[in-house]
Amino acid sequence: MSSVLQKLISPMGSGPAEPPRNKVTVVGVGQVGMACAVSILLRDLCDELALVDVMEDRLKGEMMDLQHGSLFLKTSKIVADKVDVLTYVTWKLSGLPKHRVIGSGTNLDSARFRYLMAERLGIHSSSFNGWVLGEHGDTSVPVWSGANVAGVNLQQLNPDIGTDSDKEQWKATHKEVVESAYEVIKLKGYTNWAIGLSVADLTESIVKNMSRVHPVSTMVKDMYGIGEEVFLSLPCVLNSNGVSSVVNMTLTDAEVGQLRKSADTLWGIQKDLKDI
Ligand SMILES: *[C@@H]1O[C@H](CO)[C@@H](O)[C@H](O)[C@H]1NC(C)=O
Ligand SMILES: *[C@@H]1O[C@H](CO)[C@@H](O)[C@H](O)[C@H]1NC(C)=O
Repeated sequence: MSSVLQKLISPMGSGPAEPPRNKVTVVGVGQVGMACAVSILLRDLCDELALVDVMEDRLKGEMMDLQHGSLFLKTSKIVADKVDVLTYVTWKLSGLPKHRVIGSGTNLDSARFRYLMAERLGIHSSSFNGWVLGEHGDTSVPVWSGANVAGVNLQQLNPDIGTDSDKEQWKATHKEVVESAYEVIKLKGYTNWAIGLSVADLTESIVKNMSRVHPVSTMVKDMYGIGEEVFLSLPCVLNSNGVSSVVNMTLTDAEVGQLRKSADTLWGIQKDLKDI
């Protein structure tokens, strides 16, 4: 007796199935991990999505919940795996060359900056070109000298932009970028959607080998007079190779000074870590 399956479907191809061409693994199924997973799924960036966590029940629950949504997605395989996560991450990090270890860096700070500046100008975020570099968070460096809309440099329209003496106080926008993360955490307990969306955007550049330029963190030794081995965000060309190159952005002396200060702060923390 043949089964329903055998009666319904006649196999044609032979040999083992092809391995997935684009597999994305999300380590950690907390709020941030799941926002990344959903953003990646909705943008059709992979043919296999793997979730990894040590909390087995939560992991299985999230996997099943996403699988139940398969009808509405175009990702053929959603799987879950328990490894010792920390060992896995450590192995991954230590085994990979530096251009393949990418920190999301100031990608999100830049997205927030572009959103807030664009709101003030009454245009869409994608039409305001501005970069926040250096360290994620409090000491991030907004590159006012390069802020532009359609190539029109804002600093040429207002030479005081971004400084304390600016009558229009555009500097407040960057302050808001720094404070907004704390505000969202205060209001909802964590941030996840914007970081999830921004990680999916980086994933797209890598998976589709697009060579788009993003502010992500990379080893900055020997750039802008930084002598130490620290990771800071600069505009990086991202493709399937990882960070394939770095854009040498034109910065003012003050901006370079701020970047070096970030590097010094990080180095201060890092060199203590080395001793542990
Ligand atoms: C990715 O893009 C780079 C730069 O355009 C190119 O040199 C490389 O061959 C591409 N890699 C793949 C796998 O297509
Ligand atoms: C980057 O550009 C500056 C000028 O803006 C130049 O002085 C510097 O040498 C360049 N750095 C590299 C690595 O080419």
